[in-house]
Amino acid sequence: MSAGSPLQSRILGTGAYTPERVLSNFHLEKMVETSDEWIRERTGISERRIAADGENTSDMALAAAQRALQAAGLTARDLDMIIVGTITADMPMPACAAFLQSKLGVTDIPAFDVSAACAGFLYALSIGDQFIRTGQLRHVLVVGAELLSRVLDWEDRTTCVLFGDGAGAVVLGARKEGEGAVLSTRLYTDSSLVESLCIRAGGSRERVTAEALAAKRDKVYMNGRDIFKIAVKNLTRASASALADAKLSASDVRWVVPHQANLRIVSQVAQRLEIPIERFVLNIDRYGNTSSASIPIALDEAVRDGRIQSGDTVLMCALGGGISWASALVRM
Ligand code: ACO
Repeated sequence: MSAGSPLQSRILGTGAYTPERVLSNFHLEKMVETSDEWIRERTGISERRIAADGENTSDMALAAAQRALQAAGLTARDLDMIIVGTITADMPMPACAAFLQSKLGVTDIPAFDVSAACAGFLYALSIGDQFIRTGQLRHVLVVGAELLSRVLDWEDRTTCVLFGDGAGAVVLGARKEGEGAVLSTRLYTDSSLVESLCIRAGGSRERVTAEALAAKRDKVYMNGRDIFKIAVKNLTRASASALADAKLSASDVRWVVPHQANLRIVSQVAQRLEIPIERFVLNIDRYGNTSSASIPIALDEAVRDGRIQSGDTVLMCALGGGISWASALVRM
């Protein structure tokens, strides 16, 4: 989707934010019929973060965005566009990005959300990349922010143990000679499993009635087994395509920053791509699945602790509700 254009974008800075409150597997053992052992063995998750009362998606997005702007050496006034990948905006309407724009103290620049579930950040990154490639914009803020704890059924052990809250961000800018670049992005949707991962009530199809609330139809529903199978296949395929676009092979990849949905999915993708798991940035043990926030949180962590260095080739891939999935290949 990106190779061959003379103008390219690059990541100028990264930032992340996770709420202070930690919810461990041991806490969950007291809430639903589960065990720390089951959760760790099936998913790799030990704990996750939960937003404070009164903390909204745009608050987390703001903290991540401010850190990314600082890392890029820019201020909000330098931005030409704000894109937020999220399925848990502050309100169904308007966009989380509009609240974020207000909190950043800027105006008059486009600010919109992208709804692609866990692939939302990579979708947003690809859109931002296209605007910079055309030369239309100079700086785009790309955020993945998710407050899933408020759309979970805390009595459903098949979903509530998996997810967490958080936000991550990058600032994209035009690349200069000799600098890193967004090398390739790939976006996909296969709607054959459109209802395998969804929130059934609260949209135009089903209103949030008393019956819907009682049946928890306003909360996340997931058929995990269906998604698991398709995730390994599609994440591998999308990653291979991003590498082929850039005429690179798996051995050229220094780091993979995968969506942190399940350690077993990531391990199987690693095997199929023939990239050692040691080259994957993993933090699912501490944050669980933060949907669209998971890649930018892990990316920021690895940049700040020095694992990811300037010049490194980084592969990212994510899959979620839709089923939508995506990959991106970036030189830092
Ligand atoms: N604790 C204990 N037992 C549990 C729990 C739990 N928290 N949850 C389910 N079980 C039970 C089930 O009831 C089932 O019992 P049964 O055999 O008696 O019926 C058993 O454990 C096995 O259940 P499975 O669903 O087969 O477990 P699986 O190994 O598939 O793991 C999981 C479930 C972790 C959800 C896995 O399927 C998965 O990771 N799927 C993909 C998730 C994903 O990637 N989603 C996309 C991103 S999310 C987004 O877009 C917002």
